[in-house]
Amino acid sequence: MGRKPSRQDIRILDAGCGTGSGTDYLIYLNPKAEIVAIDLSEKALEVAKERCHRSGVLTNRAKSVEFKLLKLEEATQLPGEFDLINCVGVLHHLPDPIKGIQALAQKLAPGGLLHVFVYAELGRWEIQLMQKAIALLQGDKRGDYRDGVSVGRQVFSSLPENNRIVKREKERWAMENHRDEAFADMYVHPQEIDYNVETLFELIEASELEFIGFSNPQYWQLERLLGKSPELMERAKGLSDRERYRLIELLDPEITHYEFFLGKPPLAKADWSVDETLLAAIPEPHPCIMGWPSQSFLNYDFQPVTLSDTEFAFMQACDEKKTVREILENVELSLEEVRSIQQRQLIILASTT
Ligand SMILES: C[S@@+](CC[C@H](N)C(=O)[O-])C[C@H]1O[C@@H](n2cnc3c(N)ncnc32)[C@H](O)[C@@H]1O
Repeated sequence: MGRKPSRQDIRILDAGCGTGSGTDYLIYLNPKAEIVAIDLSEKALEVAKERCHRSGVLTNRAKSVEFKLLKLEEATQLPGEFDLINCVGVLHHLPDPIKGIQALAQKLAPGGLLHVFVYAELGRWEIQLMQKAIALLQGDKRGDYRDGVSVGRQVFSSLPENNRIVKREKERWAMENHRDEAFADMYVHPQEIDYNVETLFELIEASELEFIGFSNPQYWQLERLLGKSPELMERAKGLSDRERYRLIELLDPEITHYEFFLGKPPLAKADWSVDETLLAAIPEPHPCIMGWPSQSFLNYDFQPVTLSDTEFAFMQACDEKKTVREILENVELSLEEVRSIQQRQLIILASTT
């Protein structure tokens, strides 16, 4: 993780691009890439094209972009292989997600990465209850999403204020659900499969790709939940990675989705815990931070970050194509502190070893 790709002239597939907000960002970040965006909705593709046209990325940034009406399960019909496949918010809506992920895995080039986002059941429990309640009340009107929205909105205004489903909607989702389309997507969607760690890894295994890691590694640290008890941490040492992930989500069931990377071997990896590898690497500010250069800015997750004076000096020197070793000759930072900057995804590193 955190390794700068060795080539920029890659092929990217945005599988289930929807209205193109992700496609727009992919084009912006990868101006030398050839990008193909597919979706089964003609309407969504039109909006995606218009969005990318208006944002200027098609004229200012893109090498080659193609929007195509195609089901993700039929991605095998596309010519060639892809170095990066982005599949955000789609697999959990397929009738057969395994068929979908296998089609994508087939189109991945050796060494390529598949980025996936799917729903998690624990943090969406109240949504599932509400979906089932609306379906019951709709009866033979199931499938009519306007009717579903009308029923759902009436249910929310009838339930008592301290009702668990109402409280969850207010504290977590209401901001997203003003528009009827968004409300319908959450509560009236006809096709949705939510995962837990166990079923998620069944899906991953079916892809025959290698699990590289979650995109929010902080959530998956057991220390933040049980770190106060050395005895429990010791007991947890015997757990496999998957069992540890399960334990974490059981103890912190707020999780609403899983976002992660899979790879097709052979994968280029760099072990930044090896001092020599880290010292020889060339760091750059992470392309997804916003507001750089400044001591305070937003990280890849739009969370505010404020650097210490020495961290700021280090990151400023990262614009100069020097190795970590060369930068540390002039900046008083330890290798552990450099690792912390990398783990917080504020820099990426080009490996030279
Ligand atoms: C929630 S949207 C996500 C869009 C986009 N990836 C994003 O992150 O904004 C889901 C999209 O998947 C598309 N979709 C659903 N099933 C699909 C399939 N079998 N093949 C291709 N696209 C599909 C829908 O049309 C919709 O545009």
